[in-house]
Amino acid sequence: MELPVGSRKEVMSYLEPFMVNEMADYLKPVEEMWQPADFLPDASKETFFDEVRDLQGNAKELSYDLMAVLVGDTITEEALPTYESWLTMVNDVSRSEQGGWMKWVRAWTAEENRHGDLLNKYLYLTGRINMRAMEASTQYLIQDGFDIGTGYDPYRNFIYTSFQELATNVSHRRVAMLAKNSGDKQLSKMCGVIAADEARHAKAYKAFISKAFEVDANEVMLAFEDMMRKKIVMPAHFLREMGTNIGQTFGHFTDAAQRLGVYTALDYVDILKDLLADWKIDSVQDLDGAGEKAREYLLALPNRLARIAERIKVPQMEYKFSWIIG
Ligand SMILES: [Fe+2]
Ligand SMILES: [Fe+2]
Repeated sequence: MELPVGSRKEVMSYLEPFMVNEMADYLKPVEEMWQPADFLPDASKETFFDEVRDLQGNAKELSYDLMAVLVGDTITEEALPTYESWLTMVNDVSRSEQGGWMKWVRAWTAEENRHGDLLNKYLYLTGRINMRAMEASTQYLIQDGFDIGTGYDPYRNFIYTSFQELATNVSHRRVAMLAKNSGDKQLSKMCGVIAADEARHAKAYKAFISKAFEVDANEVMLAFEDMMRKKIVMPAHFLREMGTNIGQTFGHFTDAAQRLGVYTALDYVDILKDLLADWKIDSVQDLDGAGEKAREYLLALPNRLARIAERIKVPQMEYKFSWIIG
């Protein structure tokens, strides 16, 4: 096989047909897809108020931290305009509307859009949320954007999205479990189907990077090293509430997530291990000196991070979020 090594542009045009042809493996047709309405009380039915009463009864049992995590997750999902516009700015891809890249971005966005929609409607119905405060945080986050250190590099972007989709899969899955333990089967189902979407998306981005490794190993390895040296920041790292500074609420949100075990420093390590194994980092060929050094750094990283993670102390004190009533 003639390898299109040379530039990012050549690699990306080599990957483009793969995106179009194999997209169906990672994204589902609308006709087969769940929609938020499948999981929410139907306001056109007489049973609506009874269903809302049930929903509120179950939601009452959810812990304060869990409510905080749900709101933070919802705001993160609802900042989708930031992620979509960032993906369309990636360099070295064809911006033809019918090309593989643009088709992928639109279809991915269309799937993701359901996540915030479902969670937002659910939270509204619980009666436990100060919706105005939450909506203000969402507006702030979209306005503030993010700074994730990928630049416009397609490799760094796909490494970031591979990591991030795995992280959201873990956190939605854990919230589903906690909701179930608290007796809220409906919320558990909602978070479960969202988590399943995230898992498919993770597979897609991981596959893009695997393909890129086949043809441009050294450059992908260096990009991976660079992203891990900078650390993968969460997309909502600028999260704030009305009356606070940019990013000031984010730490409180992640503290709640750590207290619950929804997403912890050890999950970060596990995701890194997953990526190292998936991309077969230990056996990648065709590396130069810098590439070998990058590999060495990456392979040693999980143990280093695990030792640091063990020492992390999560504050026990609960912060009072403006989003939650009571
Ligand atoms: Fe999502
Ligand atoms: Fe996602």
